[in-house]
Amino acid sequence: MEPEFLRQAIANGAGAVVFPSIFQEQIEGRDSDTPQPLSANTVQQAQYNGGPELYLARLQEIKRLVSVPVIGSLHGYEGGNWLDFAKQIEAAGADALELNIQPVLAHPEQTSEELETLLCETVRSVCESVALPVAVKLTQYFTNVASMARRLQSAGAAGLVLFAHEAKWNVAIERLHWTTDWELTPVDSVAATVAGMLRARVNDLDLSIAASGGIRAAEDAIKAMIAGADVVMVTSEIYRAGPEAIRKIVDGLSRYLESGGFDSLAQFQQSRPLPEMRSQRMTRQDNIASLTRSAQYRDPTPVIEPQTGDRYGHPH
Ligand SMILES: Cc1cc2nc3c(=O)[nH]c(=O)nc-3n(C[C@H](O)[C@H](O)[C@H](O)COP(=O)(O)O)c2cc1C
Repeated sequence: MEPEFLRQAIANGAGAVVFPSIFQEQIEGRDSDTPQPLSANTVQQAQYNGGPELYLARLQEIKRLVSVPVIGSLHGYEGGNWLDFAKQIEAAGADALELNIQPVLAHPEQTSEELETLLCETVRSVCESVALPVAVKLTQYFTNVASMARRLQSAGAAGLVLFAHEAKWNVAIERLHWTTDWELTPVDSVAATVAGMLRARVNDLDLSIAASGGIRAAEDAIKAMIAGADVVMVTSEIYRAGPEAIRKIVDGLSRYLESGGFDSLAQFQQSRPLPEMRSQRMTRQDNIASLTRSAQYRDPTPVIEPQTGDRYGHPH
């Protein structure tokens, strides 16, 4: 993360900076007694984002340079000693920690309930080890975001980030094999993020929620906030359009607040409706109503003209 880039992001209105993650494998590799095999992959992995030591040094440096909160980020797939790194991030001066634990979602011997409980225990242990506010970044594959939000709040999380980004799966048909690519979020894809906000917010939660995924323009930010976000995070659009993307979002949001007569963002957020936990029946009625409204939808049922004839259907 280059200081000049950060300076521009902040000048354009960024309210906080999340550092790129340091990965479980990198910390475990550093702490392991067994020498790691020297392949291109392991070297690349060890040096990603500078590796653990440089990560902390950069965090300290950036913290000295910028006035906005700086958030460290840990990315792994399970709990363990590597999470002690949270204390080092705290000692380096971070204002908060983002915890991105992405469990393996295809473990034949682990039920979803076990996976969720393990995640909550991991979050609890990290929250107990640092005084920093901890935000948990979740994958959107949890069946019940509302219940996860409540459990994570009880485990000590101060915030949620909905949702984590996934590498995109593909299949290389000529190699008969699958591939994964790290791609920017496609345009026009804020819907899943909005749905996540609404699902999490059916709780009366005492934690803040950050929307991450598909925020490109002020309109996306406003939608996410009406649906329940306290803050929005922007990554792909900054890669596409540079730090000025932040200015456009901030300016558009200010115009919206002004035209709506809101004195502050907080006032706007307090006046948003709390999503209700809707009964299954109502949700289904909504689905059918929106299907019927949809412009592309054509009722496939053939129209049968009323027939006249004798009681066997023969025309007169
Ligand atoms: C180039 C790039 C690098 C990223 N690095 C990380 C990372 O280190 N840790 C993490 O949790 N998410 C990472 N993400 C995911 C983003 O934080 C964010 O969740 C995701 O891109 C969705 O937001 P967007 O639609 O604004 O891009 C990265 C995304 C991109 C595009």
